[in-house]
Amino acid sequence: MASNTFTMKLFSLLISSFAMMQMTMAGDPDVLTDFIVPPNVTDVDGTFFTFTGLRELYRGGPSTTLQVSKVSLAEFPALNGQSVSYAILGYPAGTTNPPHTHPRATELLFVVLGTLQVGFVDTTNKLFNQTLQTGDIFVFPKGLVHFQYNAYANQHAVAITAFGSANAGTFSIPNTLFTTGIDDVVLAKSFKTNTATIEALKAGLAPPKP
Ligand SMILES: *[C@@H]1O[C@H](CO)[C@@H](O)[C@H](O)[C@H]1NC(C)=O
Ligand SMILES: *[C@@H]1O[C@H](CO)[C@@H](O)[C@H](O)[C@H]1NC(C)=O
Repeated sequence: MASNTFTMKLFSLLISSFAMMQMTMAGDPDVLTDFIVPPNVTDVDGTFFTFTGLRELYRGGPSTTLQVSKVSLAEFPALNGQSVSYAILGYPAGTTNPPHTHPRATELLFVVLGTLQVGFVDTTNKLFNQTLQTGDIFVFPKGLVHFQYNAYANQHAVAITAFGSANAGTFSIPNTLFTTGIDDVVLAKSFKTNTATIEALKAGLAPPKP
């Protein structure tokens, strides 16, 4: 009986520490300073808080492939600890942003040009999809697999998307599964197919960008 009680105490301790971990992981960690300056930056003024990397974005006209311009911690160090970031997405007619997840952030997508079909799948494997018009906003809950698709044959689409983390992270499902060296046999058994099919899928995918 005594050992039973001990086990239960240990168990509830584990549960509560896990709950605390979940709490601290609910967003980027809180920072104890107004902002975080990288060690190699000595002179902080308004410029440090300004990102100018998108000025040229559409100067040369829209691209012919899916164009993802990130403004996250890596591109804009002033975001460190601030729990926000952006990406600007350009979708030529007929392109898709393949199913992917952001492990660290909710995503809030704002269609500023064209229309987009979007969707996400929850942990019960239910699909929630929608066709968005210019001006619509759609939320992709944190960590869930989602996609966007410009189904139009001759209309470019552009979306501005915000993340609740300075470093949302991305798993692109096709790349995560087929360009990371997971054995063909494992994939063939997982997809209930043969290794030739897996090889064909692998051949069609470029290695992920670092
Ligand atoms: C600080 O270091 C980062 C990463 O190496 C670099 O990208 C950035 O340009 C540096 N900033 C300055 C002001 O030297
Ligand atoms: C949702 O997806 C289904 C196909 O799975 C499609 O038939 C339907 O038109 C989509 N709905 C919207 C609102 O885009």
